[in-house]
Amino acid sequence: MKENDIVKLLNWYSINKRNLPWRHTDDSYKIWISEVMLQQTRVEAVKEYYHRFLVQLPDIESLAAVSEDNLLKLWEGLGYYSRARNLKKCAEKVLSLGYKKLPNTEEEIKNLPGIGPYTAGAILSIAYHQCVPAIDGNVMRILSRVFEDSRDMLKKSVQEEYRSLLKSFMKEKYARDFTESFIELGALICLPNGTPKCLECPFRSICKSYKHHTMLNYPVKRNKKERKVEEKTVFVFQYKNTFFIQKRNNTGLLASLYEFPNEAFKMSLEEVNNYLLQHNYFFSSVFYLGEFRHIFSHVEWHMNAYVILLNQKFKGLFLEKEDIETKYSLPTAFLKVYQKIK
Ligand code: ADE
Repeated sequence: MKENDIVKLLNWYSINKRNLPWRHTDDSYKIWISEVMLQQTRVEAVKEYYHRFLVQLPDIESLAAVSEDNLLKLWEGLGYYSRARNLKKCAEKVLSLGYKKLPNTEEEIKNLPGIGPYTAGAILSIAYHQCVPAIDGNVMRILSRVFEDSRDMLKKSVQEEYRSLLKSFMKEKYARDFTESFIELGALICLPNGTPKCLECPFRSICKSYKHHTMLNYPVKRNKKERKVEEKTVFVFQYKNTFFIQKRNNTGLLASLYEFPNEAFKMSLEEVNNYLLQHNYFFSSVFYLGEFRHIFSHVEWHMNAYVILLNQKFKGLFLEKEDIETKYSLPTAFLKVYQKIK
């Protein structure tokens, strides 16, 4: 890889870049929010969240001051909710340090909650035009193909090696475009699934895997651990036009979000009926709503859901649909169940 190849990449980017909302701003706050949202979520899904989030929380001060429930409601459906909590923690920390904006040095920004090397590089290069590379899975895929590198691309030492290589090519005048052009190449040309569009690629002439037709062998996949399947029974307690939800524990998966009560094993309709009688619920009927599945990064939930029509409320939050939809953050796993009763 030579400087001229980077010029080709930048030229390709200037012609082919997508028109994305966060590409029209230099505001480090907005760029930070976009990068955090984009970390595990598709661009198309992020667009809407990004806009709504910035209307309600337009700056660091409003983010630091927002209640956790409101914040999680804004994040509802995006997943990986610790990202949202870290955003708020980070905003609080920045303000407590006496800054009005995210700091613009690598040392300071890396010590903030939720900001790892990728996000630090993205913010510093995109918002502050500094020569700090942002290396994520997309960049590593491109590099593993260009160099036919079969090492484990998730390894820190391998990433460090490429970090120095990329840094050596960065210049302040195009630091932003440098970062975004790699992102764009990974998204539009050097595709992860399906066939990469090598004929359109600005790195075609230096790409070893293109030369040897081995693109699909890179990056080399390590055996991934299989996702654990967790069986569940979900109870949707309905009293008149209200539904019962409760807050989850404050640690672990989906911490502090809301949920329908559930048990960690699957029950048949008859078993649910007996269970409700044993637990002294006053109900008139119970019916099976269906089987629902939700995939998280490390576990998969297989849920049997039941609606229980109650004669009498018990203690806790019985909410009308409008309140559930506007005020409480139900994670997608439970929203799937909720959509069916809607
Ligand atoms: N993925 C991560 N960062 C991105 C960005 N700035 N634009 C598009 N996709 C991205």
